[in-house]
Amino acid sequence: MDKRTFVRRSFAAIAESYDLLNTLLSFGIDMWWRHEAIKALGFSGQGLVLDACAGTMRLGKGILRRYPGARVVTLDFSLVMLGRGAERAQGAAIAPIGGDAELLPFRAETFGRAIVGFGIRNLSDPRKGIEELARVLKKGGRVVILEFGRPTLPVFKNLYKWYLSRFIPWAGGVVSGQKEVYRYLHESIMAFPEPAELMAMMQKAGFSQIHCQKLTGGIANLYIGEKTSH
Ligand SMILES: C[S@@+](CC[C@H](N)C(=O)[O-])C[C@H]1O[C@@H](n2cnc3c(N)ncnc32)[C@H](O)[C@@H]1O
Repeated sequence: MDKRTFVRRSFAAIAESYDLLNTLLSFGIDMWWRHEAIKALGFSGQGLVLDACAGTMRLGKGILRRYPGARVVTLDFSLVMLGRGAERAQGAAIAPIGGDAELLPFRAETFGRAIVGFGIRNLSDPRKGIEELARVLKKGGRVVILEFGRPTLPVFKNLYKWYLSRFIPWAGGVVSGQKEVYRYLHESIMAFPEPAELMAMMQKAGFSQIHCQKLTGGIANLYIGEKTSH
């Protein structure tokens, strides 16, 4: 099975327990990571924001809570994940769209801001996804990518490795019945490019003022960049 099909089937299978497991397995720290990602958007409260690989739309909803006047488009290729998020977003000014982050169904220079939470790692071709984000952003628009990383601090690194490779597949399997998906979480984090490589991809795609902010000792990273305006 190719990665794309595996990823789509996997998220459909865990959609129901996704939010709960996220919060349980991160001890609630994911809420703080998302808060930091939304803050890093530097959003004025005006204009159109894209939440790509939106899943259950936690980032999109968070943006609206912080900026009630914002217009948010949430895109994901799993309608099951979007549907799960929509159940709990009645009345919110969100436009959920089924689509592929590697071939965004939007015209060039549509959005002032774009955010991707734990989505880039799941793409078959992260480079293509980053290029698409650059295409649909207006010149000077900002992208924020929140993604898992690999901590480097000696003892912490080993503890985290055990937690990610042993505990999470076990606990994820017990709660969701989909141990394979939580094994994939570990494998995909291990296979993900180093921050310097990801930032180089961003630069090549047309972003500048790129920087990476480590969160929780590097368990997660925030990549921020602005679409070059010339
Ligand atoms: C780990 S979840 C993240 C969801 C959400 N952004 C969050 O912060 O919780 C990854 C999401 O990316 C979506 N996804 C993966 N590849 C995609 C693609 N090529 N196009 C659109 N969505 C994709 C999956 O369906 C899944 O909902």
